[in-house]
Amino acid sequence: MEIIDGNQIAASINRELHAEVASLTGRKPCLALVRVGEDPASVSYVKKKEKTAAEIGVTSRIILPPITITQGELFRLIDELNENSTVDGILVQSPLPPHLDEVAVFRRVNPEKDVDGFNTVNLGKIAQEDSSGFVACTPAGIMELLARSHVDLNGKHVVVLGRSLIVGKPIALLALQKKTGANATVTICHSATQNLPAITRQADVLIAAIGRPNFVTATMIKPGAVVIDVGINRLADPSKKSGYRLTGDVNFSEVAPLCSKITPVPGGVGPMTVAMLMQNTVKAFRLRSSR
Ligand code: GUN
Repeated sequence: MEIIDGNQIAASINRELHAEVASLTGRKPCLALVRVGEDPASVSYVKKKEKTAAEIGVTSRIILPPITITQGELFRLIDELNENSTVDGILVQSPLPPHLDEVAVFRRVNPEKDVDGFNTVNLGKIAQEDSSGFVACTPAGIMELLARSHVDLNGKHVVVLGRSLIVGKPIALLALQKKTGANATVTICHSATQNLPAITRQADVLIAAIGRPNFVTATMIKPGAVVIDVGINRLADPSKKSGYRLTGDVNFSEVAPLCSKITPVPGGVGPMTVAMLMQNTVKAFRLRSSR
């Protein structure tokens, strides 16, 4: 059994990006990070994105509108960023407070600056197998982790747990693409799926993205499977300085001995997501400067 080291793989991608950014003369790529409210997970994710951007040489602009911002005001903020020629990438941290329509906000971002890949145009490009767009960072990170861990999906049965716009649907479409590294048979399971363990036990590659701690147990695994744990669940733990510990969607101690490869939480998919955001920002910069 091999534990896939997302920290190490992300660090090598970040080094490659650092070298690319260092070779640029003049303006550096610029990423605008918009965070509404004080959701603790969002606060920590945006900090991590800001820190990684600084390490790579990407400029970041942090915008923190008040939690009372209206849909119209947030649209105007995004319009300004869309028009600002010094901004290459725009990310609106999810989740937004419930009075805001998140999908409408994602649609408002100019597809050419949509480094999160949540805009209708970029999601559609995955279905069309058009690589000119931006792939959402977590699914892109999973595909990169698999490729760099020498897991070829060709002809394999990939079972995805979860149908979110951010992970489940795009990773299923990526695994399905008719190209090298992908070309899998894909099943998506969700809360209404019947006899779930019978399906997950057929998975050569199981991708868990449901946000339920320790949901995937040993009886759900085919021996030798590759297991990718996308869950980042915060469980209260008074013994930790932060007051919580991170747990994935997979019961790691029980499942890991059965796998050929597995990602840990933390240190698996999480760091890859940030690396892919930086890669998308550099791609947006390149596309915009070549015009
Ligand atoms: N919340 C959880 N994951 C993500 C992500 O990849 N992008 C944004 N914007 N919000 C998130």
